[in-house]
Amino acid sequence: MVIAVDGPAASGKGTIAARLARTYGLPHLDTGLLYRAVGLKVLQDGGSLDDESAATEAARGLDATGLSDDARLTTGEAGEAASRVAGYPGVRAALLELQQAFAAQAGGAVLDGRDIGTVIAPDAPAKLFVTATPEVRATRRWKQLTARGIEISLEAMLADIQRRDDRDAGRGAAPMVQAEDAVLLDTTDMGIEAAFDAARRIVEAARAKHGL
Ligand code: CDP
Repeated sequence: MVIAVDGPAASGKGTIAARLARTYGLPHLDTGLLYRAVGLKVLQDGGSLDDESAATEAARGLDATGLSDDARLTTGEAGEAASRVAGYPGVRAALLELQQAFAAQAGGAVLDGRDIGTVIAPDAPAKLFVTATPEVRATRRWKQLTARGIEISLEAMLADIQRRDDRDAGRGAAPMVQAEDAVLLDTTDMGIEAAFDAARRIVEAARAKHGL
């Protein structure tokens, strides 16, 4: 079974995807890490995020092993760089095959990102679009960062989230949009346990529907 989990920043999609993967014994790919790695590679090579061909080169040469252990990819800088390079069709094309191969593994997989249900795995039997209000998402991200000792105001965090939403939803290449057959999960008033329970019920309903 392939489970596609999409949604905006700090919606809870990553945690939900990781827990679904554990529950169903499936491999999990956080596709945001791929775009983060590409953005960071461009910066580390001294390139500009405005340079589509440099970003496409970085995406073509990406070594996708060990990304989930790389702490540099979790920074706000990497997230911002990711959303810049993610708008380039060349970058998205270079990362397509890797993600589709991951989704095609025997037994299935869980992938989370922005375009899993629409572009990467349009035939996935279980699709979730996880969201929450920008204010709640900004507060969650702000708490995570301040707990790590990173100083940022809530206002700046909200502006950052809104800028990223606009860029991700407004781009021409694979914009962030809920797939027609995805189930909307609004976690605004939910803690992680409630959100996960709701996500599992959505997956159970999809399994029953598809006889899985
Ligand atoms: O949760 P957060 O948005 O902070 O990070 P992420 O999920 O790691 O995604 C970082 C950026 O990568 C997003 O803002 C998107 O621009 C981009 N991305 C994408 O375009 N497509 C994906 N499948 C995953 C991430």
